Amino acid sequence: SGESGGGGDPAGYPERNITFVVPFSAGGPTDTVTRMIAEPMAAALGGRVVVQNVEGAGGTVGAGEVAQAEPDGYTVLMHHIGMSTAPALYKNLGYAPLTDFATVGLVTEVPMTVIARKDFAPATLADLVTHVKANAGEVTLANAGIGAASHLCGLLFQSAAGVKLQEVPYQGTGPALTDLVGGQVDFMCDQTTNTTGQISAGEVKAYAVTTPERVRSLPDVPTTAEAGMPRLQVSVWHGLYVPAGTPPEVVQKLSGALRTALADPAVVEQMAKLGTAPVAAADATGEAHRARLEEQLTTWAKVIADAGVEAS
Ligand code: MLT
Repeated sequence: SGESGGGGDPAGYPERNITFVVPFSAGGPTDTVTRMIAEPMAAALGGRVVVQNVEGAGGTVGAGEVAQAEPDGYTVLMHHIGMSTAPALYKNLGYAPLTDFATVGLVTEVPMTVIARKDFAPATLADLVTHVKANAGEVTLANAGIGAASHLCGLLFQSAAGVKLQEVPYQGTGPALTDLVGGQVDFMCDQTTNTTGQISAGEVKAYAVTTPERVRSLPDVPTTAEAGMPRLQVSVWHGLYVPAGTPPEVVQKLSGALRTALADPAVVEQMAKLGTAPVAAADATGEAHRARLEEQLTTWAKVIADAGVEAS
């Protein structure tokens, strides 16, 4: 080590640019959250962070790339709940969440919204269910690929409604939302970090938020429980990962910088405007993140199996 491209000295970390890999499109919800914390983390580390979008296959292409990267702290992955659903959805995933990565810390937990193009006929979530059941052959449901949060939420919706719809995959919900606003696709589930602006501007129709409580930034949107679909509950937890084998001192430095970033009032405010908040400092640790990942892998494997979804 110590050669260029090698690990370098963990005590001197960071000595060059750190790449934060976002496994979905630029401008979408994962990208938004990553860019919110990238600068304050770079400042806390005394280095530079470059954000890179490595999209494809519901976040699994970017995650797979980071799993193979040098374990030196210069390649960091931002991923979300999809880290815990992909093993149940792919026969040949190419990486194992618990053994190919070290967890740095949880970041935020983002509510989802069920939204539609603004001229889509159904007015309420109950109307939406009736409409999609009557028009299952024509209605289109957007998502960001198998393994994305929007895909999981879409599965839960179809399972709760008892319907199978035509799904339209994108590389991220950034481009999916553009098509929804443009009327090319009918509806989707997506995170408030991507949808709050368009909902508030009336450019899309919002039926419900997928959390037990209403979201403060969208006070008029009912919860799925209020709107009659209590089984549709999902919060999109995000966390930072580095390849397994990264020196523990480096992981600790990243975790500390994450906690500093999440305590930054500007970050708290930006997140609040988009319906979310930083996790508590105790959750922005590798240990809490790993425990959450383990629990979620078990939870979603069962839900996905119970829903009768075949791995592809
Ligand atoms: C994105 O950043 O595009 C999303 O997080 C996609 C998703 O998981 O639905």
